[in-house]
Amino acid sequence: MSGGIQPIRGMNDVLPAEIGLWQHLEAALRELAAAYGYEEIRVPVVEHTELFKRSIGEFTDIVEKEMYTFSDQGGDSLTLRPEATAGIARAAISNGMLRGQKHKLWCIGPMFRHERPQKGRYRQFHQFDVEAIGFEGPDVDAELIVMMARLWRVLGLTRVRLKLNSLGTPESRAAYRDKLVQYFRGHEQALDADSRRRLGGNPLRILDSKNPDMQALIAGAPLIVDHLDAASSEHFGALQAALRAAGVDFSIDPRLVRGLDYYSRTVFEWTTDALGSQDAVCSGGRYDGLIAHLGGEPTPAIGFAMGIERVVELLRQAGTVPAAHMPDVYIVAQGTRAVSAGLALAERLRDELPRRRIAFGAGGGNFKAQFRRADRSGARLALVIGDSELERGVVAVKNLRGEANQIECPMSEVGTRLEAALKE
Ligand code: HAM
Repeated sequence: MSGGIQPIRGMNDVLPAEIGLWQHLEAALRELAAAYGYEEIRVPVVEHTELFKRSIGEFTDIVEKEMYTFSDQGGDSLTLRPEATAGIARAAISNGMLRGQKHKLWCIGPMFRHERPQKGRYRQFHQFDVEAIGFEGPDVDAELIVMMARLWRVLGLTRVRLKLNSLGTPESRAAYRDKLVQYFRGHEQALDADSRRRLGGNPLRILDSKNPDMQALIAGAPLIVDHLDAASSEHFGALQAALRAAGVDFSIDPRLVRGLDYYSRTVFEWTTDALGSQDAVCSGGRYDGLIAHLGGEPTPAIGFAMGIERVVELLRQAGTVPAAHMPDVYIVAQGTRAVSAGLALAERLRDELPRRRIAFGAGGGNFKAQFRRADRSGARLALVIGDSELERGVVAVKNLRGEANQIECPMSEVGTRLEAALKE
């Protein structure tokens, strides 16, 4: 569209031709969450910028360079949510949901990050987010993981693998951080610019570097699993035992540190080899300190978020064919009076056959053009009304699939006839 208004880079339209897979996935997610006793929560898409700075951390990529932040008319600094956990934690505090209570919550919706767009990485993307608030684990940690393992089975996706790690408590992590800084300082010349910058603010993220020149140095770095406090170590061991008992395969990745600061103890990521470099399809972990850090009463919690675009792509690659939402009946009408009668008939049929899809072929055109649209809609039957049918108080019922035939039936009997024909 030259000269027209362009879409924003990295923000996609989901067109009717693609919506089937989205709906298929969303239906599976709703069913999954309900099957595990999780309740839906909806929180705003914008929050005070301070919420994300405090939750995700000042020295993270998200806060440093990816947030859509703006001042509103009142001069408040607001940010489009880059993720859902901070908003849900805020909601639990501001709605008085804590006080020793437990909540199993989920939400679905758009998130915004100003990243460099590429396949699988967008500036507006969607997450299915699950949070278990008030649970110390490790049983609930295992529950969240078996829940996702079930989802992959239900969706028929086999190319996903689970990686686990534990980040320990803030104290054990701080001690590990010192060790790590000491190690990297000893090799400062070998650090790339990004890692040198991270050394001061967020040295654990150096372990996440994708730079090939850094890999040998990273491979020699001290491992966080060797520096866990006893309680975290036990927690992590119990999680692994629970997963083995549940038959969920996993590998321990001592370099899995996650890009958000609020994590403690369990962190995990489901990755795939089917999507190229954007290989994380679902990631999360425990954030026992976050709610207290935001001013709520100390409450342990854990959650994860799944990237919907990435899983839709996996479904597409796997050749998943979603149930088609085609109309059952398409009403073709020609002539002013016939069009009004057709509109009224469509309403009556929607009352009489509430589970059937009745499409009214608005938009005019001759019978031929209307039949072409009826055919393209995928409907099984067409109802035809013209002046001659109106005068005789009948409607023509035409089979659009299989053997072509057309019968006439009295207006008053259309509903019953249609139901019978559709059951055949
Ligand atoms: P995250 O790892 O930043 O974690 O994002 C979770 C998932 O969202 C990723 O694994 C990926 O599938 C998807 N994702 C992230 N960024 C993009 C993007 N730019 N384009 C497409 N998909 C993307 C979180 O957001 C945490 N809030 C997860 C969590 C919940 N932790 C505890 N509770």
